[in-house]
Amino acid sequence: MEIVICKSKEEASRKAADMIAALVKKNPKCVLGLATGSTPVAMYSELAKDVKAKKISFKQVKTWNLDEYYGLAPTHDQSYRYFMNENLFKKIDIQLKNTHVLNGLAKNPEKECKSYEAAIKRAGGIDLQVLGIGSDGHIAFNEPGTSLKSRTSMVHLTPSTIKDNARLFFGGNMDEVPKSALSMGVGTICEAKKIVLLAFGAGKADAVKGMVEGGMSQFCTASALQAHNDAWVFCDEAAASKLKLKEYYAWRSETVLKG
Ligand code: GLP
Repeated sequence: MEIVICKSKEEASRKAADMIAALVKKNPKCVLGLATGSTPVAMYSELAKDVKAKKISFKQVKTWNLDEYYGLAPTHDQSYRYFMNENLFKKIDIQLKNTHVLNGLAKNPEKECKSYEAAIKRAGGIDLQVLGIGSDGHIAFNEPGTSLKSRTSMVHLTPSTIKDNARLFFGGNMDEVPKSALSMGVGTICEAKKIVLLAFGAGKADAVKGMVEGGMSQFCTASALQAHNDAWVFCDEAAASKLKLKEYYAWRSETVLKG
């Protein structure tokens, strides 16, 4: 795992966007895994700038998102499909038919999850997966206690995630946050060829510490990335503040990035 510690969220977002832009340039037909939440928004804006400046094109790119609230229609303004349309897809030249988000209204969630995984496989697998991290160390909606080999399935949110998500979304109303979701599994996520995880702010410092320097454990599902051989963490100084070896990681990632 490479940890890239940046002075600001803006710098980290630009560096992460550069990594994605380089892949899209090299392989215009690449398959991306995308994430929601407040964290990747600045990086998505950077990618939109690159498209506007004609540096890259998403015309042939295919995307699969990590998760969706169960019970929300794609048109609901708090659904992750809506979020992606507003924060990225409308701002770039991607074909909407090439973008995929789990259907939160699926009558048969198990079937929906199985066919989602099958579609990813048919597309050749995910070349690069974007991730955020929950304050309890979750990736996608894989809460503490989820098997590190889990597959895409129906999952249930912890009270702390419901609280976090209500604070940032749903107008602060916890009662409105769905308690269940459809989510790519930890095992599914770890099959991506490359992983780019973003983490900003002091509120993520414990989660980052657990992911990078804790033992690999289902108590912090992001720690599964320790076993991935091409995982990159782009964070600001606040999110990295609890890391024991932060100077070493900063030096190493500098060297690797430049090399
Ligand atoms: C939700 C999403 C995660 C995201 C997390 C953090 O739980 N399912 O994919 O990483 O929120 O969100 P934020 O970036 O707003 O802190």
